[in-house]
Amino acid sequence: MMQMSIAGFTIYKGFLNKSACEALVGELRDVVRDAPFFAPVTPRGKPMSVRMTAAGDFGWITDRSGYRYSRTHPSGTAWPPVPEAVLDIWRDVSGSDRLPESCLINYYGEGARMGLHQDKDEAGFVWPVVSVSLGDDGLFRMGGTERGGKTQSIWLESGDVVVMGGAARLAYHGVDRIRYGSSSLLENGGRLNLTLRVVT
Ligand code: SIN
Ligand code: MN
Repeated sequence: MMQMSIAGFTIYKGFLNKSACEALVGELRDVVRDAPFFAPVTPRGKPMSVRMTAAGDFGWITDRSGYRYSRTHPSGTAWPPVPEAVLDIWRDVSGSDRLPESCLINYYGEGARMGLHQDKDEAGFVWPVVSVSLGDDGLFRMGGTERGGKTQSIWLESGDVVVMGGAARLAYHGVDRIRYGSSSLLENGGRLNLTLRVVT
C-alpha cells in the first residue's frame, strides 16, 4: 500500500472514534427510515453493486435517464435533512464557506465496489468533496484528472474522513473492494460511505 500524495487530497485517519461512528450510524438509521436505500442502475441500465440514498437539498441519483442531482428520492419524497453531526464534520475539515447541499449515502454489502469515476455533476468545483467511511474497510483507489493515468490505493477504515479539494477535486477515484466483516459497526456488516458536496 502506498501513501497518497496528490495535492488537495487529505485523509484524516480515525477522525471519528468508535463511539462517534456508532452515534452517526444511529442518525443515519433515521435518515434511511425516511429515504430507504434503492438499487441504482447506470444510464446504460447496468445495476450498480452499491445501494444508495441521500440527505440534504439534493441527492445524486442514476437511472436510465442519466446521472444527475434530484430534489427527491425515487419514491417522490424530499430527502431528509443532513444530520447536524455530519455537517459538523464538514465544518471541521472542508475549509469551505458554504455548507454541503448533498450527502450521498452509499452502502457496500459483500462484493460491492465502485468503479473509477470523477465527481463532476456539480455546478462548480471550488468546494471540496468530503467523504466519511463507516464500517468495513474499503480499498480506495485514486488517480489523476485523466482517465487511464497512474493510480494509488489506500485502505479506508471506519472513522476515516477524506477531503478532495484543489487539484484532487476532479481526480478519478473508486473503491476496488471491501473487507466484508472486518468491522462490527453495522449490524449486518458492510461499509457506509457519506459523500458531502456543494451542488449549486
Ligand atoms: C464515491 O466516490 O462515490 C464513493 C467513495 C467511497 O466509497 O469511499
Ligand atoms: Mn465519487
